Amino acid sequence: MLLGGLAAVGGLTAAPAQTGQVVVYSARHYGQEPAFEAFTRRTGVQIKMLNGGTGELLERLKAEGDKTPADVLLTVDAGNLWNAARAGLLQKMDSPELQASIPAHLRDPEMRWVGLTVRARTIMYDTRKVKPAELSTYEALGDPKWKGRLCLRTSGYVYNQSLIATMIRRHGEARTAEIVRGWVANQPVILSSDTKILEAIAAGRCDVGLTNHYYLARLLAKDPAFPVAPFWADQATTGTHVNVSGAGVTAHARNRAQAIKLLEFLSSPEAQQMFADVSFEYPANPQAGVTPLVARWGRFKQDDLNIAAAGEFQAAATRLADRVGYK
Ligand SMILES: [Fe+2]
Repeated sequence: MLLGGLAAVGGLTAAPAQTGQVVVYSARHYGQEPAFEAFTRRTGVQIKMLNGGTGELLERLKAEGDKTPADVLLTVDAGNLWNAARAGLLQKMDSPELQASIPAHLRDPEMRWVGLTVRARTIMYDTRKVKPAELSTYEALGDPKWKGRLCLRTSGYVYNQSLIATMIRRHGEARTAEIVRGWVANQPVILSSDTKILEAIAAGRCDVGLTNHYYLARLLAKDPAFPVAPFWADQATTGTHVNVSGAGVTAHARNRAQAIKLLEFLSSPEAQQMFADVSFEYPANPQAGVTPLVARWGRFKQDDLNIAAAGEFQAAATRLADRVGYK
């Protein structure tokens, strides 16, 4: 698969360092444009984007080494950011401002990446058939009452790897295996995207599922009568699993200072609000507001486990899913 926009920035490889631009390799395909434009208006610094899948961009950064034109890597899921940091592709950012803006559980303890937007991966239910009182925890989706009524995404997708990885960090492998075994015992319908899960619930194919919250917000923006609602899982205990989209400065960034300035701007309440309004995500900076469609779902307790666990336990999560037969 070809990287979108490859030709546009391909020539930058040989270009001299310029202070007037920041090159962003982005695996996040929507929502950042207004904030990028605001940064350029404010600073005069141009932003050049190269879009691609996370795997492609990481391979490209490795292959380019110190010749890379990239200053910033922007991607989704802490598991991906953690993998980029572990591969030596990101550098530590010395920025008290970033540390103040982004809560500690949403950034790398070594400050090689920070979360910029927050996505909750939680229980979605058919509002025509399920009452919120019937729901409680991720674990309770393994109750036999949900047999044949549960839709899940494939276990190999990074969002689910991260969910299971953070469960391992929280509960240990044995209990996490019990939880996932419970889901598998309910013979879930396995689908290939979060949107398909929500559409399957609306179509009556299943009654409950697990997805990121913003996919539901997008469907509700198009159809306010879409018959699915979120339930915030694990509120009586550790809180709902959250993940991030986020960014770091590349190890060989030519425009390091400007790259950090860009990330500081993106973490400011003003830019965070722009992200939230376009993408229906929660701002990582708690000072920024939530967009109305999402705000009406109320406040909920986030699991405040450091999201780096998504990477640290990713391999263990994959093995666990295989072992208990979650496809
Ligand atoms: Fe997504």
